[in-house]
Amino acid sequence: MTGVEVVHSDLDRVLVPAHEIEAKVAELGRRISQDYAGIRQLLAVGVLKGSAVFMADLVRVISVPVSFDFMAVASYGQLSSSSGVVRILKDLDQTIEDQHVLLVEDIVDTGLTLNYLLETLRTRNPASLRVCVLLDKPSRRKIEVPVDYLGFVIPDEFVVGYGLDYNEFYRNLPDVWVLKPAVYQKK
Ligand code: IMP
Repeated sequence: MTGVEVVHSDLDRVLVPAHEIEAKVAELGRRISQDYAGIRQLLAVGVLKGSAVFMADLVRVISVPVSFDFMAVASYGQLSSSSGVVRILKDLDQTIEDQHVLLVEDIVDTGLTLNYLLETLRTRNPASLRVCVLLDKPSRRKIEVPVDYLGFVIPDEFVVGYGLDYNEFYRNLPDVWVLKPAVYQKK
């Protein structure tokens, strides 16, 4: 493991180590670069805050001209489960009409957040709209969402690190960790 040495006792185990994430991000970057080869510009849209770390690494391994923007959303409901009702806290700074948009998300769980974001962005008439997600928890899906570029399929456990948080903590961990169930079941 690199970086953070002190591991909080609320963490159970490493699920995806940093070196595997690095290799996967490089692979995703290669695929994205090939698929978009020849385009004038790709607009990567990161969903704050969870995708910030992934986005920072991903855009640096994409070889087509890329610009980026961010949206921030909040789901009404409990901390560790999505209600499907999503509120935009920060919208894009720019119009996406006629642009090739790549939506970058940290994790798809129920799919409700991604579904809402895709529906919202589609109404703005981008030239194309694809999705890149680092982690997928398919067992909890409530609505099918198209994922064009996927990092890892993971089991139904609450994970933190590499941008993902629990109560805003652990985003800075270089690896993806499983949080001890007792921690969020206390809530
Ligand atoms: P969905 O709408 O249920 O797909 O949830 C998507 C959002 O829930 C993600 O963007 C995360 O912010 C959050 N989320 C879901 N599962 C986890 C997890 O295991 N760890 C941290 N955040 C999660």
